[in-house]
Amino acid sequence: MRLDKYLADCGYGTRKEIKKLIKSGAVTVNSVENPLPETKIDENCDKVFVMNTEVIYKKFVYLMLNKPQGVVSAVWDKKFKTVIDLVPDEFLHYELFPVGRLDIDTEGLLIITNDGALSHNLLSPKKHIPKTYYAKVLGKVNDSDAAAFKAGVTLDDGYKTKPAELKILNSGEISEIELTITEGKFHQVKRMFESVGKKVEFLKRIKMNALGLDESLELGEMRELTEDELFDLGGNELSR
Ligand code: URA
Repeated sequence: MRLDKYLADCGYGTRKEIKKLIKSGAVTVNSVENPLPETKIDENCDKVFVMNTEVIYKKFVYLMLNKPQGVVSAVWDKKFKTVIDLVPDEFLHYELFPVGRLDIDTEGLLIITNDGALSHNLLSPKKHIPKTYYAKVLGKVNDSDAAAFKAGVTLDDGYKTKPAELKILNSGEISEIELTITEGKFHQVKRMFESVGKKVEFLKRIKMNALGLDESLELGEMRELTEDELFDLGGNELSR
């Protein structure tokens, strides 16, 4: 592929910006200075450097964030810190965005990427991608709640939820549960519990499709997905 496309795919700007970058003398190909934008690059063997940093060919980036409370799932916000503010510098030249939203007070697994097709498919109501949440709930969660969630409950706006699987880890004054849903209505988990008269005190997403949260990530920390993890997320079939 052409050098300018190679650099554009790697997030170094628009074709126009890249032409400027190349013209400035910042780019070398196999140690040759001042290459032309149309120089042909074989991404398997050619060595491209921008200002002495090797450019490893990568069109898409997939990051797993352990989202902390207090940040919003947006690219920009006038009031709050966003999940994009947590992205390490090395990825900032990609046009990254979060795949869907977790509430400001929800923690856990959030994917950050520049792969629009994957994001669209993961969020599409037609794909029924399972998402699992761990929650602490005020009050005794019981088998009749599990049965109600399985049958579908009616939310405050009259919407009837799709069947969801409730696993009760511990039932008490504060219960601990895992809930798997296959849709993503606004505040869905909190509103499902409200529909059975209970309040979610703490919420954390622990799984999306077959991809589990890496619990060794500190809150606010993120890293790239491995090939296997991308597969678990559905990257092979959903990223097109
Ligand atoms: N359901 C909620 O209520 N909040 C979230 O952040 C995610 C799912």
